[in-house]
Amino acid sequence: MSATARKTAPNAQDIRAQKGGVPLVSLTAYTTPMARLMDGHCDFVLVGDSVGMVLHGLSSTLGVTMEMMILHGQAVARGLERAMLVIDMPFGSYEEGPAQAFRNAARLMAETGAGAVKLEGGVEMDETIRFLVKRGIPVMAHIGLTPQSINTLGGYKVQGRDDQAQAVLADAHAVADAGAFSVVLEKVPATLADRITAEVAIPTIGIGASAGCDGQILVVDDMLGFFTAFKPKFVKRYADLGPMAEAAIAEYAAEVRARSFPAAEHVFGDQAPAKGAKT
Ligand code: KIV
Repeated sequence: MSATARKTAPNAQDIRAQKGGVPLVSLTAYTTPMARLMDGHCDFVLVGDSVGMVLHGLSSTLGVTMEMMILHGQAVARGLERAMLVIDMPFGSYEEGPAQAFRNAARLMAETGAGAVKLEGGVEMDETIRFLVKRGIPVMAHIGLTPQSINTLGGYKVQGRDDQAQAVLADAHAVADAGAFSVVLEKVPATLADRITAEVAIPTIGIGASAGCDGQILVVDDMLGFFTAFKPKFVKRYADLGPMAEAAIAEYAAEVRARSFPAAEHVFGDQAPAKGAKT
């Protein structure tokens, strides 16, 4: 069912069932008002650990904590009725092994109401994904460029070109076989993304991948033009709200300094207004 026609949020099985159908629509969100804006348009909303860079000014996602994810997850949950909430497991909260991953995934879901967690990694995470899924935790996998591994990947580079393609393909099969209900493909060549989409039975969600994926995701502050520190090639700016917001702030500052704000309509009179009249 399309996101606009939906009355209640889909679950992981519903998302999985959209494999090969109408493309899944997703954005990240970190706050209640932004979640409300996208609720009627997205199939699922991701509380991404990109929150660290986008809202907290960190230089990577590595400093994001469980507490940050829970706080933003709770805020986003308050803004959603029709889209599924998926939450990222932050760096250091799952890599030790299945038991640590279960403990933290269960906490993220219990404290935010998220319907699934997302974690980064392919073949090396298949045991953990299998463990979580068998114990009731739906998992969205994330392969290709995995930003939590930038220090070992050597930067935010395209993954899966030339002789790396087989490894990314193996990651896709490993997470699908382990029971993930969908997989994010970040920054992989379009032909490889198409091949993965054709070969695995779960929806592929592209970000810097291919229009042939089963769905797409973008970081909301990137596509709205709020995050201007840099713009990856795969981002399309659907609006330029950052410069618009700065212009509005500059106008406010000028009016305050000129004492033209507040104007008469923004201040209160001495006498109480007549009943029914505006204050
Ligand atoms: O943290 C995030 O925003 C993400 C998306 C880019 C997929 O993982």
